[in-house]
Amino acid sequence: MSSPPKLYVLTHGCQMNEYDSVKMADVLAKSHGYERTQNADEADLLLLNTCSVREKAQEKVFSELGRWKQWKDADPRRLIGVGGCVASQEGEAIARRAPIVDLVFGPQTLHRLPALLETRRETSRPSIDVSFPEIEKFDALPAPRAEGPTAFVSIMEGCSKYCSFCVVPYTRGTEISRPLDSVLVEIAQLAEQGVREVTLLGQNVNAYRGTMGDSAETCDLALLIHYVARIPGIERIRFTTSHPAEFTDALADAFIEEPKLASYLHLPVQSGSDRILGMMKRGYTRAAYLQKIARVRAARPGLSLSSDFIVGFPGETDDDFAQTIALIDEIGFDCAFSFVYSPRPGTPAANLRDGVPAEIKQARLHRLQERIRHFDDRFRESFVGTTQSVLVERPSRRGGGQMAGRVSANRVVNFDGPDSLVGHFADVLITESAANSLRGRLLA
Ligand code: SAM
Ligand code: F3S
Repeated sequence: MSSPPKLYVLTHGCQMNEYDSVKMADVLAKSHGYERTQNADEADLLLLNTCSVREKAQEKVFSELGRWKQWKDADPRRLIGVGGCVASQEGEAIARRAPIVDLVFGPQTLHRLPALLETRRETSRPSIDVSFPEIEKFDALPAPRAEGPTAFVSIMEGCSKYCSFCVVPYTRGTEISRPLDSVLVEIAQLAEQGVREVTLLGQNVNAYRGTMGDSAETCDLALLIHYVARIPGIERIRFTTSHPAEFTDALADAFIEEPKLASYLHLPVQSGSDRILGMMKRGYTRAAYLQKIARVRAARPGLSLSSDFIVGFPGETDDDFAQTIALIDEIGFDCAFSFVYSPRPGTPAANLRDGVPAEIKQARLHRLQERIRHFDDRFRESFVGTTQSVLVERPSRRGGGQMAGRVSANRVVNFDGPDSLVGHFADVLITESAANSLRGRLLA
């Protein structure tokens, strides 16, 4: 009996891309029996799932493909595919510039990979589909496969906010929500396989408006959270990413009403300066953001607050940046993803004059990250001496019989315990705050 064909997937970028890569593997396992491998040398099909949110994305893709040429030269029967946002933006140009590429597909056409593969085999020409066929993708995906007690579930695709710096609305299309039933069925299937915690995923999940059967009403994120909490087996719910302009009072109240909603909120603010927020077309002011944070903090004391920041947006002055630092100090974000602004082709901000010198941008980024580290350290230390309910995810990378899991506020805890705890909640006394995690002692 011949062994199944092997698939290697290399993922650039965000959680959304990680989710899509798993789906690519699932689709190809079902259609052609592909088995995923971590070793590119033994793969028959190699996929690159690209991201174009920052940096020199296109160049990164072509230099990766340059490396993969050797691999194809070694066995020309091997196939190479490029998916994700760079594929969506560049389309046919990818196959023209890198003739080793056999398949080009976008985030919304990954479910068509089996058909693209067949077309490639029949025509011996590159097979390309970077269209946006709305929500068809989710109907065509195989049943989800759990890989441990936590799972991501995509509830919507695309983004319609058109922030002036961001390429996502052009590469992933505008916002489209999955129907409520489809989301709930996927989560129930995951729960039956032992998933205890789900993260509801999308570029802007609080724009979620899922259809509810034949009803004319739609379901928003707050209501969706209540439905998900009723699914047997699901004990913890997270969501990411949400946009401050659409962070509603109902969503803040969900932190009071729904104890299964984790004590963690990622709410990207980008800048503390109203002038820069206006130029970014973010649709809220610093004061409005502060008001939302005050409401949600009152709803859930001890909430972990996380954000995204861009430093060095075109025209950002020392004073604009000082306002960002002041906002960080006022709120005390204990976690953040921060980036130097990177002009994205085709976005309005790419036409703005970027007068901020690179070394100033780097210095600002460094300063910002130091402030966040200060609050992160303080936040982790606040757990020492408390007992936390930890969802045990896996044996710890440290080995030595240690287990690793996360508290509701999204911090990793390592502690001594048996493997049999994986997939269960354990009460752990937090004894120490380490560099990026917590240490604890198993109580029960
Ligand atoms: N929906 C989210 C929000 O409310 O802002 C953000 C999703 S975006 C794909 C993820 C993050 O990438 C953004 O929050 C922003 O900080 C960063 N980002 C996007 N475009 C960028 C650019 N051109 N340069 C630097 N960072 C960028
Ligand atoms: Fe990008 Fe703004 Fe949407 S950052 S993903 S356009 S909310």
